[in-house]
Amino acid sequence: MNDAAYQQCIHPACEEKYPITDIRVSCGKCGGLLDIRYDWSKLPTPKNLNFFEHRWSTKGIGSDGRLDFSGVWRFRELMPFYRTEADIVTIGEGRTVLQQADLLAREIGVKAGKLMLQYEGLNPSGSFKDNGMAAAFTHARIVGAKRVACASTGNTSASLAMFASLAQMRGIVFIGSGRISFGKLSQALDYGALTLQIQGDFDACLRRIRQIAVDRPKMGIYLMNSVNPFRLEGQKSIMFRVLEAMDWRSPDWIIVPGGNLGNCSAFGKAFSELKELGLIQKIPRLAVINATGANTLNEVFTRQGVRWNNGQYDATVVQKLYAGMDESNYSPHTVASAIEISRPVNLPKALRALDVMNGVVREVSDEEILEHRALVARYGFGCEPASAASVAGLRKLLAEQVISPDESVVCILTGHELKDPNVTVKYHTGVDMKSVQDLAPRSEPHGKLSNPPVQVEDDLEAIIRAIGVEGI
Ligand code: F0G
Repeated sequence: MNDAAYQQCIHPACEEKYPITDIRVSCGKCGGLLDIRYDWSKLPTPKNLNFFEHRWSTKGIGSDGRLDFSGVWRFRELMPFYRTEADIVTIGEGRTVLQQADLLAREIGVKAGKLMLQYEGLNPSGSFKDNGMAAAFTHARIVGAKRVACASTGNTSASLAMFASLAQMRGIVFIGSGRISFGKLSQALDYGALTLQIQGDFDACLRRIRQIAVDRPKMGIYLMNSVNPFRLEGQKSIMFRVLEAMDWRSPDWIIVPGGNLGNCSAFGKAFSELKELGLIQKIPRLAVINATGANTLNEVFTRQGVRWNNGQYDATVVQKLYAGMDESNYSPHTVASAIEISRPVNLPKALRALDVMNGVVREVSDEEILEHRALVARYGFGCEPASAASVAGLRKLLAEQVISPDESVVCILTGHELKDPNVTVKYHTGVDMKSVQDLAPRSEPHGKLSNPPVQVEDDLEAIIRAIGVEGI
């Protein structure tokens, strides 16, 4: 199947191609991000989207039921980079639902029947990340990876740890100091990943992991962050499921929180491919919502007016912004720890997605995030703080009359309510069970399977020693 699939630099002026079996997260020629691309004319592409429906109705029964049970792989013809179906890794991810939210709609001023919530917290590890991991672990298996790693604000690490344990690979996760919620940390430890707590924030962790996974290929560590283009292939399926639940008619708007900007990038790719294949008529508009304390995309896109411009976007704006951050030792800060990221790796792809989907970007304050998280919980089933940025963003866009009350809107709720109970308890009681800054065990852990996090300085050699790969 995969002769017709390849990796390609996203920049129209470069478009260098690489085989699927290459392990890389950037273009060797220009350093740009990579896409997974397909020569659709050589592939068995469905003539219409109804084709996928019967798979959902069989719910895992039948000869290839294992794949149909997955809300990612039941759309496999739309992400056909694997060689045979035996390559595919799945743990039953993506069985998530779209729910009409009339009570919430009334509360924030949208007409009944027009507001839908896509609950990605219903994934096995409790966040949308499982969609992407199913695809990236499939690629990791194709290239024979033994060790997989990520930097994370918590959900990526939880998902990676779960998949690594089930796929029998060594999981290594880098988390920043004190900024991970306990729900997410507990998952990484429980699934047996080597958990390194670096003295620094998410951006520092990502810088280090790239030095290890990309610059030191001999360590044989496969990078699972969303800079890995295979992750985004799996995350396209969130949009396929939204369409499926809406009888294959596009809503007017998709609203999603923005952190490292993988999700919104994947959504743009999903819709441009569906359009190219003639499988949809209309592409919805996109709204990406930053937290005020981590608002790089909003700064670049809304305030400074940078546009994709067919790949010729003004990168100097971004460089200047980052240089300013370096100078002032800036570190992002928001109660929505999942999106506490100031140097989103997928920024160029996000600009492209905003172009394809005629998008807008906004930022919302921590207070707005907290109030909207509580509202989602009051009128349905809840979500973690970062997810509620989408609903807070909707309220803002209604007030600005960018979105009108009779347009159909899908807010993506990216993570489960129980990921971050401390924030919820603090909201309701004022009691601050703050996450611990350093996770060095206070006493000897007693369990037979105890897997305490390892504290490491933000120093490359110290990190390499902590990973303990022989012969490097
Ligand atoms: N919502 C949640 C719950 C997240 O965990 C993340 C990202 C986002 C939104 C933002 O998505 O990065 O695709 O723009 N969490 C990452 C992590 C960074 O490490 O778990 P994005």
